[in-house]
Order: sequence, then C-alpha cells, then structure tokens
Amino acid sequence: MVTSSVPGEGKTTTSLSLAAASAASGARTLLIDCDLRQPSAHKNLGVENEAGLAEFLSGQRNLEELVHVEPRTGLYYILAGKRPPSPTDLLGSLRMRRLLQQLGDAFDLVVLDTPPVLAVSDALLLVRQADTTIFVVRWEKTRRDIASTGVKMVYEAGARLSGIVLTQVDLRRHAQYDYTDSGVYYYRGYKKYYGE
Ligand SMILES: Nc1ncnc2c1ncn2[C@@H]1O[C@H](COP(=O)(O)OP(=O)(O)O)[C@@H](O)[C@H]1O
Ligand SMILES: [Mg+2]
Repeated sequence: MVTSSVPGEGKTTTSLSLAAASAASGARTLLIDCDLRQPSAHKNLGVENEAGLAEFLSGQRNLEELVHVEPRTGLYYILAGKRPPSPTDLLGSLRMRRLLQQLGDAFDLVVLDTPPVLAVSDALLLVRQADTTIFVVRWEKTRRDIASTGVKMVYEAGARLSGIVLTQVDLRRHAQYDYTDSGVYYYRGYKKYYGE
C-alpha cells in the first residue's frame, strides 16, 4: 500500500505510476482506490467514479462488475465508488480483509492507494493486511515533524515499511544543497564509476 501524512503529497500519483510500471512489465497488476472520502484514481485514469470498493463492501455490487481493465496498458483497477456513510467501518471490515486475501491470490501485485494517516485512521486499518507499505513525502513541502509523525503512526499500526518516496523533488535545486543524502551519494558514485 501507498500512504502519506497529509493530502496532496503524491500518493495517488505514486500508486498509479507503480501500478502502471508493474503492468507494463507483464505482471498481473490491480490498483484499488481505497480513499473512499476523497477518491481521485478515477481522475488520473480518465474515467467516471460510478461504483467501486464502497459498493462492494456495502454489499450493493459484485466484484466482477467492479474490476475494470485499461485496454491500453492491461492495468486492472477498482475505483472507490460513492462516498459511504462510514468509510472507516467498511475498510476495517472482515469483507475487506477477505477481499484483499482473494485479490492477493489472483494478482501478482495489488497496489492500494489510501487516505493520509494524519487526517483519518482508514489507512492504518490496512497496513497489517498489506505485505508492505510505501510512505510518500513531498519534498520541501511536508514539514519534518508532520512526516515523522506519519511514519511513526504507520509503524505503530504494524506496517512493514519498505521505503519512503520523496515526491516532486526539484533536482536542480536539490543538487545545490550541500546535503550528502543517499541520492547525491548515488549520483556521485556513478560519476566516479564513469571516470568523471
Ligand atoms: N511527481 C509529480 N510531479 C508533478 N506533479 C505531481 C507529482 N506527484 C503529484 N503531483 C500533483 O500533485 C497533486 C497531488 O497529487 P496526488 O497524487 O493526487 O496526491 P495525494 O494522493 O497524496 O493527495 C496533483 O495535482 C498531482 O498532479
Ligand atoms: Mg490521493
């Protein structure tokens, strides 16, 4: 699953990029928009959010009606659907847990796009069900304390954190800083390798 501290950090963009890259590599890949409050995967996919996870979890629709495929990329997706009265209850339900188990068996990769953890507890209910969590931080925008609080929350909720993705990095400005972070180190290592 992909999450972050606050809205607008790049969760949906990162989820879709990851899912699209996976589908392009030939893996059977499913993206699920688990942000039942502020869904946006449908916008990035260019489709209407008529029905989705919310309708499945509330028993209004069958799964077969809700799994779509992008013909161009072969990416499968389930949209969020109409905002339900109690998103947290639906995401924390046994039905959701069973769904993820079923889909986990049917696909090579399932990517969950989730709401921000400082806003609502929805994503925290999912971390234990995901094999791994990717935490997104928007470079230069997200305050340090906000980012670290979010990471702490997902850890405490039982996440297996596989890494942090810094989004919207201005590479030119970043390179002017005198920080020897891993990106700079990596880049320098390559320069050395090529004998520059
Ligand atoms: N890597 C990026 N480069 C440029 N714009 C981006 C990038 N990632 C996200 N954005 C923009 O930032 C805004 C928020 O991104 P989004 O992925 O919807 O965030 P979240 O899902 O965390 O709320 C969107 O307008 C999106 O187009
Ligand atoms: Mg989003």
